[in-house]
Amino acid sequence: MDRSEFFSKIGILYGVALATSCLQSCNHELAKVTYPVDFTINLEDPKYLSLKTPANFAFVNEIIVAYTIHKTYIALAARCTHQASLIAYYDSDIFFCSKHGATFNTNGEVTNGPATQNLIVYKTSLIKSDLRIHS
Ligand code: FES
Repeated sequence: MDRSEFFSKIGILYGVALATSCLQSCNHELAKVTYPVDFTINLEDPKYLSLKTPANFAFVNEIIVAYTIHKTYIALAARCTHQASLIAYYDSDIFFCSKHGATFNTNGEVTNGPATQNLIVYKTSLIKSDLRIHS
């Protein structure tokens, strides 16, 4: 094998590795599944006590429900659109993915990569202690 043949083979291997990596990454980007959501949680339930204190959050059915610093409820898809790690709500009013550092605002919009797709946002409505989360 001469030198140019060697580099040609290395180039092909690198190309295959790069394509595989890209396809896996693209699959994560496309893995976002949308489905109708409509459920209610009772904030008196001990599981959701954190949602009575501003700047806290809870996970319910793959959705992150946050009680914001502005004392409003926000519900977003809980998994980062980059590689599907769970996100968290912070009192600086952002949703943060600790895996690679992506951030999203309270409208679900990407404010810092590497994520490029926004999070799904769900509607919330509060009647007494019942918080409805729906599409
Ligand atoms: S998985 Fe969230 S930034 Fe990579």
